[in-house]
Amino acid sequence: MPATRRAGAGGNNSEPNWAKAHAVLAPAFTKSAMADYHAAITGTVRELTDLWSTTPEWTDVPATTNKLTFEIIARAGFSHSFGSLADSNSGSFVEAMVRELAYANRRTDVLPLFDKVFRRADHARHEADLAHAHAVVDNIIEARKHDSHRRYRDILDLMLDSADSETGERLDTVNIRNQILTFLIAGSETSANTIAFALHYLSTRPDIAAGVRAELDERWPTAEFPDIRYDDVAKLRSLRRVIDETLRLWPTGPGYFRRAKRDTTLCGRYRFAQKDWVLVLLLGAHRDPAWGHDADQFNPDRFLPDNIRGLPPRVYKPFGTGPRACIGRQFAHHEIGVTLAALLHQLDLEPDPAYDLDVRETLTLKPAGLRLRARRRRR
Ligand code: HEM
Repeated sequence: MPATRRAGAGGNNSEPNWAKAHAVLAPAFTKSAMADYHAAITGTVRELTDLWSTTPEWTDVPATTNKLTFEIIARAGFSHSFGSLADSNSGSFVEAMVRELAYANRRTDVLPLFDKVFRRADHARHEADLAHAHAVVDNIIEARKHDSHRRYRDILDLMLDSADSETGERLDTVNIRNQILTFLIAGSETSANTIAFALHYLSTRPDIAAGVRAELDERWPTAEFPDIRYDDVAKLRSLRRVIDETLRLWPTGPGYFRRAKRDTTLCGRYRFAQKDWVLVLLLGAHRDPAWGHDADQFNPDRFLPDNIRGLPPRVYKPFGTGPRACIGRQFAHHEIGVTLAALLHQLDLEPDPAYDLDVRETLTLKPAGLRLRARRRRR
């Protein structure tokens, strides 16, 4: 999610709700916890692959990958399906969330009072959407509380069952609802647009796609849908370089804020008074001269071990840094890896010859207007 616009961006790490939720949720986002979500991720990705392989028309890529990642979080995190990939109707909740994201994006430069007075219709729609989103999520939480089986091994169970190891406190219902909405927002567009950017490069650079497919075919030589095991994903090194390079060139959360704890001077030149904000613009760091003269080009080979060895440590931070860094980083890598592996193994992706990459910032960076035509891969 764009840290530049997230609620509480750069907020106080000792803020009680953040600290409490963070302590409870951390185990749900370790690498090993991903194994529990793997089946939900591969199942959802398979639905997308089936959908694209039977859609002869051009597909709006960011719109569809957004539905995919939204659905993955819902299924893996809360064992709930919104039916987002059932193409004809993504359901009122998903539509309300999409409108909320657009509203939040439009509102960032507007004073709340202006919004209430001069954009009444917009504001009323927003209030209704928010109330609807709250009601839907509250129902999911209530249903789970009254579910006698309660062995889902998902993030919702964790939030309901765990207590903070130091204080013994549990998360209250409003905090759980906010966490669910945060995951749905923070964890969907960022991953979705990363997948979309990667598909843009893979479809327009057949040389790079061929390298990734060779790696996939070595592991899954037949035409059937690949039996992707949890451990396989981390071994797909060529694919991983494509993902790393995509996040370098277009970090979908393009920056994050931090606030000075005390008066300070950075690099001997930049003075900050206590409580001044600084925006760390990843788009700048990721094109730092340290990356070489071709920093604006897509070249996954720059992530070969020999090539990254000499890089300064702070020029690559697509998931932020420190205690506030992205909690969903492993989750993101896993779902993006599974998605790209399955799509490339199963489908040929035809780029639109008229398309020039058009990067827009909505809540995240996205390749606006990107469309592809997919068909079953010819071997
Ligand atoms: C490619 C995908 C993703 C990118 C590029 C990304 C990027 C980021 C960035 C830059 C931040 C701010 C970090 C900071 O201030 O240092 C952040 C925060 C966050 N991300 Fe992600 N993210 C991604 C996927 C996810 C996923 C899949 C989830 C959840 C399943 C998630 C959940 C969060 C949450 C909850 C925060 C707020 C962390 C906090 O304040 O404790 N993100 N993300």
